Amino acid sequence: MSIVIKNINELVTLSGNAPRCGSEMSEVEIIENGWILIEDDYIKDLGQGDVKVSDNTKIIDAKDKTVTPGLIDPHTHLIHGGSREHELEMKLMGVPYIDILKKGGGILSTVKATRAMSKEELKKKVKKSMDKMLLHGTTTCESKSGYGLNFEDEVKCLELIRELKGDHPLTLVPTYMGAHAVPLEYRDTREKYIELMIDKVIPYIAQQGLAEFIDCFCEEGVFSIEESRRILNCGKNYGLKIKIHGDEIEPMGGTELAAELNAVSAEHLLATSEKGMIAMQRKGVMPVLLPATSFYLMLNKYADAKRMMELNLPIALATDYNPGTCPTESLQTVMTFACFGMKLTPKEIITAMTINAACAIGKQDTIGSIAPGKKADIVIFDAPNLNYFIYHFGINHVDSVIKNGRVVVD
Ligand code: NIG
Ligand code: FE
Repeated sequence: MSIVIKNINELVTLSGNAPRCGSEMSEVEIIENGWILIEDDYIKDLGQGDVKVSDNTKIIDAKDKTVTPGLIDPHTHLIHGGSREHELEMKLMGVPYIDILKKGGGILSTVKATRAMSKEELKKKVKKSMDKMLLHGTTTCESKSGYGLNFEDEVKCLELIRELKGDHPLTLVPTYMGAHAVPLEYRDTREKYIELMIDKVIPYIAQQGLAEFIDCFCEEGVFSIEESRRILNCGKNYGLKIKIHGDEIEPMGGTELAAELNAVSAEHLLATSEKGMIAMQRKGVMPVLLPATSFYLMLNKYADAKRMMELNLPIALATDYNPGTCPTESLQTVMTFACFGMKLTPKEIITAMTINAACAIGKQDTIGSIAPGKKADIVIFDAPNLNYFIYHFGINHVDSVIKNGRVVVD
């Protein structure tokens, strides 16, 4: 099956397979009056002006529209039961996030809800979220476990991700995050929980190929640097690539640990020190920033994206979609906070949600760009230019979405 998208007002390509660092993030090629030829799953060709179209080709007219690579969300907690709107008033009264968790609320209340759901019930809920992601332009999303926190329920969540392959157009990239919190039943024996992960869960998940990455919530009151090092190193020894939730609230040194372990990415980074940023830059660790979470936690503080870029780091952006600190599936919402909170420009933002996001999940060879040979994952925005759909905020600008060469949102 061939598709031609033609008359594209602004075609944003972001070609290449390497992360764009610092000032390169704003060197975005835009083809005016562009076209794209798609054959089967792949992008075959692209150009400017008129395009020859052979028979049996579906033509999409993108006059007055902007076309970008499919958006990539490199950090989500997609697999969870329940929701936490009941915590909202408590948060508005100023109760800190970590205090809610310490009282058995927060992540731990979602653990209860997730454990209570069967795989089929959970699948129904997750699919609804995946539909929303696709409708808002996301074509690939990283998805963490971390609300099961025992062998059976962590495996249930990761198996669910595997079962969703082929069952939904969105691509999911699985991450094991058993080190999301210490479950209530291990509150007084946390060492036993760490042993369970190291001796049983991680080996099983790696042998079954249920995850590509391992992640850990390295934060004051959650997992210490030493504990995080043990857990992540265990995953690494079993062939999992490393991600880390670091320096979200306190500057604990999670970023330095990410550099030490050659992590693919370090995420959150609101409290990261200059030393941590330099360490990431030296080791090629991708910062994944989550500005909608900063907003939602009412921290009046964002990760220092501009300083990271001055140090020639690349930046990727993600939703952090989860029921506690960022209940939204929409990367377009994240664009708003990246722009008005972090002061990133539309060109920097689209780079951070396409090619750089692809690098954050190790998929830069196949997605993240509109270039011959890459998968035909494409979003058509009903907006005349890239600046417009970030400037005009709070609504969904997606006109259509193409995933693996097929129109999935029309
Ligand atoms: O990335 N920081 C840890 N985990 C999530 C929040 C999870 C929750 O509150 O349920 C995050 O913000
Ligand atoms: Fe997170």
